[in-house]
Amino acid sequence: MFSADILPYIQIYMENKNSFTSKLGFVLAAAGSAVGLGNLWRFPYLAAKYGGGMFLLIYLIIAVTFGFTLMLTETAIGRKTGKSALGAFTALNKKWSFAGYIASAVPCIIFPYYCVIGGWVVKYLIAFCSGQGKAAAGDSYFGSFISQTGEPILWLCVFLFLTSAVVMMGVQKGIEKASKILMPVLVVLSVIIAIYSVTRKGAAAGVIYYLKPDFSKFSINLVFAALGQLFYSMSLAMGIMITYGSYMDKKSDLESSVRQIEIFDTGIAFISGLIIIPAVFAFSGGDESVLSSGPSLMFITLPKVFESMPMGSVMGAVFFILVLFAALTSAISLMETVVSFVEEKTSLKRPVICLIVAGASLLLAIPSSLGFGIWDSVKLLGNSILDFFDFISNNVMMPIVAFLTCIFAGYVIKTDAIASEVEASAPFKSRKLYNVTIKYIAPVFILIIFVSSVLKGLGIINF
Ligand code: PFF
Repeated sequence: MFSADILPYIQIYMENKNSFTSKLGFVLAAAGSAVGLGNLWRFPYLAAKYGGGMFLLIYLIIAVTFGFTLMLTETAIGRKTGKSALGAFTALNKKWSFAGYIASAVPCIIFPYYCVIGGWVVKYLIAFCSGQGKAAAGDSYFGSFISQTGEPILWLCVFLFLTSAVVMMGVQKGIEKASKILMPVLVVLSVIIAIYSVTRKGAAAGVIYYLKPDFSKFSINLVFAALGQLFYSMSLAMGIMITYGSYMDKKSDLESSVRQIEIFDTGIAFISGLIIIPAVFAFSGGDESVLSSGPSLMFITLPKVFESMPMGSVMGAVFFILVLFAALTSAISLMETVVSFVEEKTSLKRPVICLIVAGASLLLAIPSSLGFGIWDSVKLLGNSILDFFDFISNNVMMPIVAFLTCIFAGYVIKTDAIASEVEASAPFKSRKLYNVTIKYIAPVFILIIFVSSVLKGLGIINF
C-alpha cells in the first residue's frame, strides 16, 4: 500500500469540492504522475529518431486502444480492491502476487536514471537563471557538460535531494496547490513556445516531418519504442495507476476519467514534439544526426530556440522551472512507490527507508551519469548505461507486466469483474471494444512485438 503520506496528495483534489469535483481530482492527481520527463523529454526524441509522423501515428493508435484499455484495467483493479499493485493482485488471486512484485520492481529501475535527467534539467535552469542562456545554446555545451564526472552527479544529487525531501516530509499541501497552478501554466507556455517554434524559418519541413506519416519509416523497432513510451508516459505497467485507482471514489466515472488523463498526457507529449522537432529543422537543418541524437535532443535544441527568442533567457528559465516541476511530481510518485514497497515489506521507519532508497538510487544513478563521460566505453547490449536501464524497464519489464495484466483481467478475474467495477459509476460505453482488446488484441500484439524485439536484440533474427 501507499503510505498514509501520499494519501493527502491524492485526496486533496477529491476533498476540495469547492473548486473541483472528485472526478476532476483524480484526473489531476494521476496526470501529475503521468506528465513528466516522459512527455517533455522522451517523447520528442523518440518521435524525431523514429521517423516523425509514422511514430506519432502509431503512438496515437496504441494510446487510444492499448493505453486506454490498460489504464482502465489498472484503475478498476485498484478501485475494486482498494489496494496498491502488490496487494491488489494478491487480493484478487493469491497465485498472481508475482505480477505485483514485477510491477513494483519497475519504478526501482526507472527512478535512479530519472534523477540523472532531472539533474540535467536543474543544470539548465540554473544556466538560464544566471544569464548563461547564450552559452547553453552552443553546440558543444551539452556534450561537455554530461561528459564531466563531478558536475552532472552534483545536479543529480540536488534533484534527488529535492525529491527525497518531499517524500520524507510527506507530500505537502504546497505541492498540490502549486501543481494546480503550474500544470496549466506549463500547458499555456508550451503552446506559446510551440507557436514560436513552428513559425521559425525552415521549421515547416519539421512540421511536415512530425505530422506526415512516412510509411517507409515503419519498423518493428518503431512499434516497440512507441509501446514502451506509452507505458512510461502514462505511468502504466508498474502499479501506479492501481494505487491511484484505489483512492478513487466509487461514484466517479472511471471511463471518462481515464480518457481525460490519456488526452491530457498525450496532448502535452504532442505539443513537446511540436516545439522540438520543427526547431531541429529551423536551427540544425533537420540534420539526421541531430534528429537521432536521443536523450540529449531536448537539451541541445531548446536552448537554441530560447536564444533566438525575444526575452529568451526569461522564457528559458520559466520553461525549465516548469519542466523541473513536472519532473519532480513524477519523481515523487516514483520514489513514493519504492518507499511504500519497502515500508510494506520491512519494519523500518519511514525516514530510514527514505535515506536507504535515496542512497541506493544514488549508487544506481551514478553509473548512468558516468556512462556519458569516463565510462562511455561501457556498452550494455549496445546501449549506454542510462539507455540500458531505460531499455530494460520500458522495453522488457513493462511489456511483461502489461501482458500479465491483460491475461489477469481477461482470463483470471475475467472482463465482467472489470466491467462491473466500471459500471458501478456510469455505463461502460466501450465495453465491447475493451473486451476484445484486453482478451485478444493487446496480449497477442504485445507478445509478438516483445518476442521479435528480444530475438532481434539477441541477434537471432534480423529485419
Ligand atoms: N509518467 C512519467 C513521465 O512521463 O515522466 C514517468 C513516471 C512517473 C513513470 C511515475 C512511472 C511513475 F510511477
